[in-house]
Amino acid sequence: MSARLFAALELPGSVRTQLADFGRAAAGNDEALRPVAQDSLHLTLAFLGHRALEEVDPAREAVRSVEAVAPPLALGGALWLAPRRPHVLTVALEEGDGTLAALRADVVDRLAAAVPWRPEERPFRPHVTVARVRRGWRPRVRDLPDPPQASFSGEAVVLFRSHLGGGPARYEALERVALSRISD
Ligand code: 2AM
Repeated sequence: MSARLFAALELPGSVRTQLADFGRAAAGNDEALRPVAQDSLHLTLAFLGHRALEEVDPAREAVRSVEAVAPPLALGGALWLAPRRPHVLTVALEEGDGTLAALRADVVDRLAAAVPWRPEERPFRPHVTVARVRRGWRPRVRDLPDPPQASFSGEAVVLFRSHLGGGPARYEALERVALSRISD
């Protein structure tokens, strides 16, 4: 038995509503796309993949130990990933001050110290996946509605267990650490 784990930044409900509307509008124009449900929208900070069940508690502790301020963010443009062979439609996130990159590095370091996991070395490209390309389909990449605009702060770091099979993945929150606002 194993658990598929990832740590993510939780976004404000109002931003998730805007992103879900965009994903649905994009999917409404293109049957190659399947929108992601509003409650499943998140920004992945660290993807651990399948971990042995005895690693779940240490991973929870690692996330519980995060102490950080909420990163100020803005929604950027629509971003297909991977750009040449898109399998997801995402919205890029932009940050002004490096807080998100520092938070992500902290979460990655804590998880890497807690469980036998090697973080991937690809550059961090912050995004929220709003729709997935159906297997075997090609999306119409130029035919998108306008992506939403918003400035906001991340709300919490969450350790999720992802349950696959039989439709869209279901994400179970195992640990949630609320982030403090700079003005607090
Ligand atoms: P995505 O949003 O870009 O698809 C749960 O599956 C989360 O982990 C998703 O947000 C997904 O990113 C991310 N994820 C899934 N597989 C991954 C992988 N092999 N490498 C990095 N992130 C992955």
